[in-house]
Amino acid sequence: MTRAMTTIDLPDTEATQALGQRIAALLEPGDVVALTGGLGAGKTTLARAILAALGHEGEVPSPTFTIVETYDPPATRLPVVHADFYRLNDPAEAEEIGLDDYRYNAALIAEWPDHAGGFSHEPACLSIDLEVGDGTRRALVRPGTDWLRRWA
Ligand SMILES: Nc1ncnc2c1ncn2[C@@H]1O[C@H](COP(=O)(O)OP(=O)(O)OP(=O)(O)O)[C@@H](O)[C@H]1O
Ligand SMILES: [Mg+2]
Repeated sequence: MTRAMTTIDLPDTEATQALGQRIAALLEPGDVVALTGGLGAGKTTLARAILAALGHEGEVPSPTFTIVETYDPPATRLPVVHADFYRLNDPAEAEEIGLDDYRYNAALIAEWPDHAGGFSHEPACLSIDLEVGDGTRRALVRPGTDWLRRWA
């Protein structure tokens, strides 16, 4: 399947905030924002930017240890599940922690999505690969078919 990939330079955290605002404005229940990239690539920073733009005030704990953190209206415009699947040993564990129930009516922001089996086969998945190079950072964005018109 051919998908339009866009590249967005992220020279500073302000650029990441702007990307988070753009995603937040388009986000709907059932969506997945799948954030890949190595340690320190900026996954949690982007997740925080999306949540802040959806209305969340205050801290966004990294779900490194809890695996899942949830955010609900009226604090956010829509229910959001922020997950960090790094600690899963097997994709089947995503089911065991009740991911499907968490996702009901919610948008999912997933760090280390591959550890949960991946979501890029879902039409509502916006895949964002964060790359860190020699003093540069950028996002490679691949919209699922549900996102094509929204992201254009
Ligand atoms: N666009 C950016 N420009 C400059 N620094 C950034 C940018 N995005 C994130 N950072 C910085 O990079 C560091 C790591 O970011 P972050 O914790 O979001 O990465 P992560 O991908 O979630 O890492 P981990 O895999 O360890 O959870 C932070 O200090 C953050 O401020
Ligand atoms: Mg992180």
